[in-house]
Amino acid sequence: MKLPAVLLTLSWVVAIVAQGTSRRPTLRPIPYRPRVPFPNPPSRKRLCVVRTHGDGITDDSQYILSAFRECNDGGHVLFPRENTYIVGTAMDWTFLRHIDIDIQGRIRFTNDTAYWQTNSFRFVFQNVTSFFKLGGEDVWIYGGGTLDGNGQTWYDTHAENIYTLRPVLVGIDGLKESVLSDLVLRHSPQYYHFVANASNVVFNNINIAGASTSKNIASNTDGWDIYRAEDITIMNSVIHNGDDCVSFKPNSTNILVQSLFCNGSHGISVGSLGQYPGEFDIVDSIMVSNISMHNASDGARIKVWPNTASAMSGDLQGGGGSGRVRNITYEDMTVDNVDYAIEITQCYGQRNLTLCQLYPSPLTIENVVFRRFRGNTSSKYQPLIAAFACSSAEVCRSIYATDIDVASPRGTRQAYCLNQNTTTLDVECTSIYRGFN
Ligand SMILES: *[C@@H]1O[C@H](CO)[C@@H](O)[C@H](O)[C@H]1NC(C)=O
Ligand SMILES: *[C@@H]1O[C@H](CO)[C@@H](O)[C@H](O)[C@H]1NC(C)=O
Ligand SMILES: *[C@@H]1O[C@H](CO)[C@@H](O)[C@H](O)[C@H]1NC(C)=O
Ligand SMILES: *[C@@H]1O[C@H](CO)[C@@H](O)[C@H](O)[C@H]1NC(C)=O
Ligand SMILES: *[C@@H]1O[C@H](CO)[C@@H](O)[C@H](O)[C@H]1NC(C)=O
Ligand SMILES: *[C@@H]1O[C@H](CO)[C@@H](O)[C@H](O)[C@H]1NC(C)=O
Ligand SMILES: *[C@@H]1O[C@H](CO)[C@@H](O)[C@H](O)[C@H]1NC(C)=O
Ligand SMILES: *[C@@H]1O[C@H](CO)[C@@H](O)[C@H](O)[C@H]1NC(C)=O
Ligand SMILES: *[C@@H]1O[C@H](CO)[C@@H](O)[C@H](O)[C@H]1NC(C)=O
Ligand SMILES: *[C@@H]1O[C@H](CO)[C@@H](O)[C@H](O)[C@H]1NC(C)=O
Ligand SMILES: *[C@@H]1O[C@H](CO)[C@@H](O)[C@H](O)[C@H]1NC(C)=O
Repeated sequence: MKLPAVLLTLSWVVAIVAQGTSRRPTLRPIPYRPRVPFPNPPSRKRLCVVRTHGDGITDDSQYILSAFRECNDGGHVLFPRENTYIVGTAMDWTFLRHIDIDIQGRIRFTNDTAYWQTNSFRFVFQNVTSFFKLGGEDVWIYGGGTLDGNGQTWYDTHAENIYTLRPVLVGIDGLKESVLSDLVLRHSPQYYHFVANASNVVFNNINIAGASTSKNIASNTDGWDIYRAEDITIMNSVIHNGDDCVSFKPNSTNILVQSLFCNGSHGISVGSLGQYPGEFDIVDSIMVSNISMHNASDGARIKVWPNTASAMSGDLQGGGGSGRVRNITYEDMTVDNVDYAIEITQCYGQRNLTLCQLYPSPLTIENVVFRRFRGNTSSKYQPLIAAFACSSAEVCRSIYATDIDVASPRGTRQAYCLNQNTTTLDVECTSIYRGFN
């Protein structure tokens, strides 16, 4: 006798749940829904449980790859809660499609800095490399488990040599219609996520932390860097890190970032842009809403290199690129001990303001709104609470700051304004200059 399809499906779901698998998480977008619907694929019909050597030393990569291959195209891969997996091999996961990856256990990457620097994936942009390369289509990753970047060795190695190529924990290249949810990310050597060439990808309920235990700080540990990607949503997450909480790199469009708790970061940043001469960088249609920002250098930030070679540090140099920043909204942000609640600079990496204005950036900034900010800045730049600095009046248009209820510890609400239309800025513009982050 042939069972009706619906019963067959139901029996698979029951069978899979009985194996201790996680249910797919429910995505609750507040306050906004993204313009494209969330992926909603049918349930998977095969289960693959990933084996482990279980000794805490031996590389489990081959077990992971074989489970992914076996369950690709319609299966559910399970990393059981009680297991710790060791990954010591760079894995290409761009073949994935129609698959659920249920990580309940812990996946720990080895700290073999020599191996990874030779074998990690290269992303060209800003010398980014990664432990694995995630791509493909209709991939759901969730389960409440942990990806442990084992970053301490990297923080210490980087302190000795700033050119150490530290891998990104989650490296994405060419991922579509996918969801990463309910994951714990710890001690990434560098950024936690690099999201390149992606569209319609949702990050939900991601928990990020990983401070250094030595005197060498966990630097450059951005939460998310978006690059050449559109329709990305990042929401309902908690981030304790040491660089941008989220950053929109060249060609990030239609990005929604909402309901985040960020601590210790460099804020939510557009850029840096204009780093490379001859390139045209676009950041367009970004909504950042309902953010709680603590102990950070910035709340909302737009950073653009001037039109002359400049340097932040030995491994961070640039200037001379062009492009366009347009239709950016930052709203409902609470700041607490943040150096600048809002910072726009077109003099990134160039401390000499005269030089910056002598070589104004050709990269335009227009239709930018900051609204409903509240809270307190740190004392670092007081009496300033914000900085709006364009390298010329021609390249910045329609920048609005409204309902900015933010005060410095002394109670002031002044802002450094350079080449601005001050009538659209609800702060006390001054020419007092205290520097940029
Ligand atoms: C993105 O796609 C482009 C075009 O296919 C490719 O050249 C590039 O290597 C991909 N990855 C990144 C990180 O840009
Ligand atoms: C990439 O690394 C090289 C040396 O390893 C360094 O000279 C260069 O400035 C780095 N580029 C960026 C964009 O960080
Ligand atoms: C590498 O990581 C392991 C834990 O996975 C740790 O025991 C070991 O001390 C680390 N090695 C170095 C050089 O930090
Ligand atoms: C960004 O998009 C523009 C316009 O399509 C293109 O000229 C530029 O090369 C792109 N940049 C990157 C880094 O992909
Ligand atoms: C704002 O984000 C917090 C989580 O940080 C969430 O609890 C709250 O419901 C969100 N509020 C709105 C109006 O979206
Ligand atoms: C928040 O960030 C500060 C500054 O980086 C750090 O000292 C503190 O430990 C962080 N809080 C948590 C709960 O991680
Ligand atoms: C501006 O961006 C928002 C998303 O924040 C989008 O809904 C809207 O369509 C964009 N407007 C234009 C004119 O591109
Ligand atoms: C901010 O930093 C201070 C000092 O390190 C710490 O006491 C506080 O808990 C931090 N705030 C958050 C939200 O972690
Ligand atoms: C800043 O740049 C200008 C123009 O090149 C130069 O005259 C001036 O000496 C520089 N100031 C400093 C402090 O280097
Ligand atoms: C800002 O500081 C004032 C005075 O210390 C305090 O009363 C208020 O609660 C703080 N605001 C926020 C949003 O943290
Ligand atoms: C400044 O903004 C006001 C209000 O939007 C506008 O009327 C005025 O034309 C702007 N001035 C310049 C120089 O752009």
